[in-house]
Amino acid sequence: MITLGEYIIEKQHDFPEASGELTGLLGAIRLASKIVNREINKAGIANIIGATGIENIQGETQQKLDLYANDKFKQALEARGEVCGIASEEEDDFVSFDSERGMNSKYVVLMDPLDGSTNIDVNVSVGTIFSIYRRISPVGTPVILEDFLQPGVKQVAAGYVIYGSSTMLVYTTGNGVHGFTCDPSLGVFYLSHENMQQPKSGKCYSINEGNYLKFPLGVKKYIKYCQEIVPEDNRPYTSRYIGSLVADFHRNLLKGGIFMYPSTAQAPEGKLRLLYECNPIAFLAEQSGGIASTGTQRIMEIDPTALHQRVPFMCGSADMVKTAEQMIADNP
Ligand code: AHG
Ligand code: MN
Ligand code: MN
Ligand code: MN
Repeated sequence: MITLGEYIIEKQHDFPEASGELTGLLGAIRLASKIVNREINKAGIANIIGATGIENIQGETQQKLDLYANDKFKQALEARGEVCGIASEEEDDFVSFDSERGMNSKYVVLMDPLDGSTNIDVNVSVGTIFSIYRRISPVGTPVILEDFLQPGVKQVAAGYVIYGSSTMLVYTTGNGVHGFTCDPSLGVFYLSHENMQQPKSGKCYSINEGNYLKFPLGVKKYIKYCQEIVPEDNRPYTSRYIGSLVADFHRNLLKGGIFMYPSTAQAPEGKLRLLYECNPIAFLAEQSGGIASTGTQRIMEIDPTALHQRVPFMCGSADMVKTAEQMIADNP
């Protein structure tokens, strides 16, 4: 039985210049995820369900647990001193950790502290997503916006925690995707899924079909393709949509499948945020043999222009994403 802490230290040699900072940083994420996990598990009996009445910068109502998770991750990352700043879905602007230790750190973290927050109150899986970059500004100075606006190909590490029927932490540092399951009686994450590989194709398609009439033609055609009866091609596929990106992606990672949140007539950029939802999931998708794209462009090559930028998103099994991209290209 290998613990997450032991595994990260064992793999530290993946980074030629590793000084233990990234190990400490992942340790801070592990600690915060255990605290958030504990809180989520008692959601029904503690006074933590429901909305705060406050909106975040994107006009979404913040749930109590959105803010709780944001605070816990922020505190853990600042206290550990391996991070010079963070950006979060629940913070209007990036936050600079200006202590001497903070300013002398080389990493920034972007996060979605609680993903799928409309599922909290109904006891359905939620998650935390994180993305880690090396800063571009000089060590010893406060962070700047450009440290956060880097394309996904520059990610040093990314991952998520899924608070589901079990709690798992899944991450990549660019050497495969590894999953750890939390033993709740000990509060320890153990290696359970080393080197996860997403099947080339699967049987599931995940999309909010309530928006069907607003989708671009290529996406509509792809949905119809998924529904056609072609037994030799395993179609019709099964429709599965949880409404928590982390949970939808996790299922497709294990079983094969495609997830899509395309543009709509009303929201040409789609809904999901490039920096703390799409890029980290894209890194995991590619590292497990899958693909992540806007439908026309590789997600990780987009040059970000704003912290809360949205992009159309599709990811999952390579053959399925390629087929969807082809239909989008054929039906502009
Ligand atoms: P968040 O809870 O962090 O704001 O993210 C919600 C996202 C994502 O988890 C999910 O895939 C999508 O929103 C669901 O959106 P719809 O309800 O529009 O389908
Ligand atoms: Mn939200
Ligand atoms: Mn989210
Ligand atoms: Mn969120």
